Amino acid sequence: MTADLPRLEDLHIERGTRVLVRVDFNVPFTEEGEIDDDTRISTAVPTIEWLRRERAVVVTCGHLGRPDGKVDPRYSMAPIAKHPSTLLGCEVALAPGVVGARVEPFVASTPPGEVVMLENLRFEPGETECHPAFATNLSALADAYVNEAFGASHRAHASIVGPPRVLPHAAGRLLAREVDVLSQLLHDAKRPFVAVLGGVKVGDKLGVIKALLDRCDTVLVGGAMAFTFLLADGKRVGNSLVEPEFVEECRQVLDTRRAHIPVDVVIARDATPDAETRIVPAGAIPDGWTGLDIGPETAARFADHIAGASSLLWNGPMGMFEVAPFAAGTAAIAEAVAACPGFTVVGGGDSAAALRHLGLTDRVDHMSTGGGAALEFMQLGDLPGLEALRERQPG
Ligand code: 3PG
Ligand code: MG
Repeated sequence: MTADLPRLEDLHIERGTRVLVRVDFNVPFTEEGEIDDDTRISTAVPTIEWLRRERAVVVTCGHLGRPDGKVDPRYSMAPIAKHPSTLLGCEVALAPGVVGARVEPFVASTPPGEVVMLENLRFEPGETECHPAFATNLSALADAYVNEAFGASHRAHASIVGPPRVLPHAAGRLLAREVDVLSQLLHDAKRPFVAVLGGVKVGDKLGVIKALLDRCDTVLVGGAMAFTFLLADGKRVGNSLVEPEFVEECRQVLDTRRAHIPVDVVIARDATPDAETRIVPAGAIPDGWTGLDIGPETAARFADHIAGASSLLWNGPMGMFEVAPFAAGTAAIAEAVAACPGFTVVGGGDSAAALRHLGLTDRVDHMSTGGGAALEFMQLGDLPGLEALRERQPG
């Protein structure tokens, strides 16, 4: 389905052409400050290498966290810039800022075939506000633009939608692959098509759940958001997290009979590693107790649905998997997804982390580098960043 997106090969690149590459190097870090998962960096390498071979000046730019429009050293791209050096076998020099008088000569003095990185785009308020002046200054650093930031393409931010208006532009290899895989799932999934959704906030996921109900045979709902569904189903949820304003919508979803919610849950008084836990039927959570994972019966039922899927999409953990007593449900789903003989797609940092910690990453067909972006694509069939790439090439 990338047929409608301009490809790298369509760009006219000569020796020294400055190419601004929007990447999504917003990677997770360990508590010790090391990069915990470099997938978002390593998967962008083929595009960067291709541009280097064409002797372009590669100007990478991305964001890290949410520094809120202010320079904040905790969110500097410095540790990120170091990392691709090893993957690319060349130095990636960090620019002294995002745009402006010091950055322009820095880019201008970069030799063909070399790679530089701008500072965190979100140090500039104009990035998330999509300010035209910031987009103009960013675009002025380059002669062409490549979007290789699938994971950020659901954001109509300046670096995503601005440069394609004024610069010749193309989709990077990773972005193109993401769109191909998700389009196939959206428009041409083999049935049965099963979606497994977890996560905390039901308000964030209801839109995609409803959209998936139109496309999927079965939607399995876990994670903290399942408790609003259980409440909608008339169940006692104790102190579990609920969003009462969405109960009515959850009830409508349940009425379709194609969404399945937990039948048993792991509960505790608090979410600590040494908490006393119990497994109870989903309708019988006492006051003072909180549901923190799906129970074993739910995991087994969900695993049965997953085993029978010809297409499968998984996004979001089944419980508070980062705390040991509440990790079993997510682990069971990860194992089931890995064993599923159908076409399996996993999106979102938490699901990816769960698979990685179990050593199962290689057993899914596609690990999306976007969580929110993948879900928004499945919900709306398009993203602001893709629309921008379809704009006419500037003359
Ligand atoms: C992500 O990690 O989801 C993307 O990099 C987008 O970041 P954001 O959610 O802060 O916009
Ligand atoms: Mg996000």
